[in-house]
Amino acid sequence: MQIRDLVREDIRNLVPYEPHPYGDVIKLDANENPHTFPAPVIKEIFETLTGDVFTRYPDPLGNELRKAIGQVTGASPENIILGNGSDELIQLLLQTFGGPGRRVVIPAPTFSMYKIHGQITGTEPVEIPRNSDFTLDEERLLAEMQVAGTTTAFIATPNNPTGTVVPVAQVRRILEQVDSLVIIDEAYIDFGGQTCLPLIREYPNLVVLRTFSKVALAGLRLGYLTADTAVVRELLKVKQPYNVNAFSQAAARAVLRNWQYFRDQIEEIVAERERLEAEMGKIKGIDVVPSKANFILFRVPVPAAGLHDALLESGVLVRKNPGITHGLEQCLRVTVGTRQENDFFLEKLTKLIPI
Ligand SMILES: Cc1ncc(COP(=O)(O)O)c(C=O)c1O
Repeated sequence: MQIRDLVREDIRNLVPYEPHPYGDVIKLDANENPHTFPAPVIKEIFETLTGDVFTRYPDPLGNELRKAIGQVTGASPENIILGNGSDELIQLLLQTFGGPGRRVVIPAPTFSMYKIHGQITGTEPVEIPRNSDFTLDEERLLAEMQVAGTTTAFIATPNNPTGTVVPVAQVRRILEQVDSLVIIDEAYIDFGGQTCLPLIREYPNLVVLRTFSKVALAGLRLGYLTADTAVVRELLKVKQPYNVNAFSQAAARAVLRNWQYFRDQIEEIVAERERLEAEMGKIKGIDVVPSKANFILFRVPVPAAGLHDALLESGVLVRKNPGITHGLEQCLRVTVGTRQENDFFLEKLTKLIPI
């Protein structure tokens, strides 16, 4: 008998998340904010921490933070649940609404954790290929969402790794025709696209997922979801009571109070994204997928894995294997960095593509 034989059969073959090599490289692989966290906000965070923040358990619902999120999103605090990153909320949704005999519909290519959490929770992941321009194949998606046992569907907008968006009118059309939960993942909404948040009041089966990771707090792990109170009530039965630590709650509140710093950084990232797209488009053989997020998917005229490794050797880490359909084997994904980082990346990329 080996330990492996004791593991649930349906998860025995999962592959652990592979940490990327760090070293002294420019990190453009994980869609983080490349700018320095504003010093005045760090100071403010520490000023709000009193001794018992560390000795006492945190507020299990994060009520102060829920109130602050409510003020900026227009949602009521009772409609919000905080998570240890939105990754945890994806798992929570599938633990609560998925499970053996149930299906989760996933328009692919997209963020890999929907499928992985599907597998971990024993939910059957049903991947629906997007159209060739990465728009949703609405007819097929609806047909699959109407199959018995389908309780959830995850749609990211802007989508990772494509950077493409789903129009709100299309989300509304889908919501009108299905009973399953439709989870709209807006992890990159600060960089483009239109939010579905106002639809929460109209559709009890809509969940909107957000995160602080892409703009401010990837290292502190803070995500949230907004949904009808009936959905929130069910999720709270399954959520770990103290899932979000007190330090992260305090930091997120300070981030919201000081949003002007982050708004400036977002504007800079969006401007750099547009410049990068234009400059990359000038390199012969490179095809850029126009993005509304803080990263760019691009097709390359040489073997993608080799180019990834050569870029890494030159000092820039980008994301390889962004997908296995739609020709994504021939693509890489680069996160928009600072102007200086982007210039460095462009210089190395140009050198590595044969003329
Ligand atoms: C679409 C999408 N959703 C969710 C996440 C997870 O974010 P978090 O850091 O909040 O767990 C990511 C991270 O890359 C993402 O791309």
